[in-house]
Amino acid sequence: MTQKTAKGIFWVGTLSSLILFLALTVDTHRQVAVLTNADKLSDEVVAGKKVFQKYNCNVCHTILGFGAYYAPDLTRVYDRRGEAYIRRVLEQPEVVLANSFRKMPQQNLSAQEVDRLAAFFAWVNEIDTNDWPPQDSKTRSANRLTANTGMTRGAALFKGTGCFECHTLEGVGREVGPALDGVGDRYDAAALERLIADPHSVNPSAVMPPYGEELSAADIQAIADFLSRQNGGVR
Ligand code: HEC
Ligand code: HEC
Repeated sequence: MTQKTAKGIFWVGTLSSLILFLALTVDTHRQVAVLTNADKLSDEVVAGKKVFQKYNCNVCHTILGFGAYYAPDLTRVYDRRGEAYIRRVLEQPEVVLANSFRKMPQQNLSAQEVDRLAAFFAWVNEIDTNDWPPQDSKTRSANRLTANTGMTRGAALFKGTGCFECHTLEGVGREVGPALDGVGDRYDAAALERLIADPHSVNPSAVMPPYGEELSAADIQAIADFLSRQNGGVR
């Protein structure tokens, strides 16, 4: 390769990457208002952001990719936990988190500060981040399905978690594991919860993957509840 070709490759590569980078940056900035629902950015939400900054919640938590990793990411906390839980943990972390290995300090927030933080989390929750961080996407898509179609939460989670990859229900899905029609006659809801969380605990030779780590206890309960209603073909 001559020096001229090397320089040519360098300049073409650098300039085309630069142009692409600038174009994508401009494009992102043009979409910010829509992606963030800027029209819903109320005074209450702005005040909530200021409370978040005042107490430096970022020293333990991450939000929108910014902050520390000691405590849970709060970008989707509104979907993950719901407003009632958020309020309780902000008001009485020492009670709510009494059994957790991680602790959150009692920050003596006023009722108004709690209201504002709740509004802030509700707004952040709706920002379209292209599914980042991804850890809550199953809960979110199940929430959407139940809100938009009237499908029960358990049914939505069953679909969203990929159970159809290995099971059929009413002929839909793949037959890697047993068909789940009538499974409610074979197990009660409590046994289904144990089975989904840890198939080995019910059947030592089970090959089905455990879901105890991936799904919250509440989500497993919702799926078990849904399956326990699959009785003898009649629903
Ligand atoms: C010293 C570290 C620390 C600080 C500061 C802190 N938190 Fe936390 N927070 C935690 C920990 C740890 C947990 C989770 C404990 C667990 O569930 O194991 C938590 C949990 C939460 C949760 C529930 C999250 C979930 O997914 O269950 C919310 C909401 C929350 N904090 C909001 C806040 C807000 C708002 C502030 C600032 C006003 C704040 N935190 C400041 C450590 C902290
Ligand atoms: C990778 C394939 C695979 C996936 C994904 C999977 N399963 Fe299974 N499942 C199996 C297999 C195989 C069995 C049969 C027992 C065994 O070998 O574990 C089984 C058994 C079961 C049973 C007991 C059925 C019976 O009649 O005894 C239930 C209930 C069940 N699975 C529910 C679920 C749910 C709910 C999900 C989604 C959260 C799921 N499975 C995802 C493979 C899978």
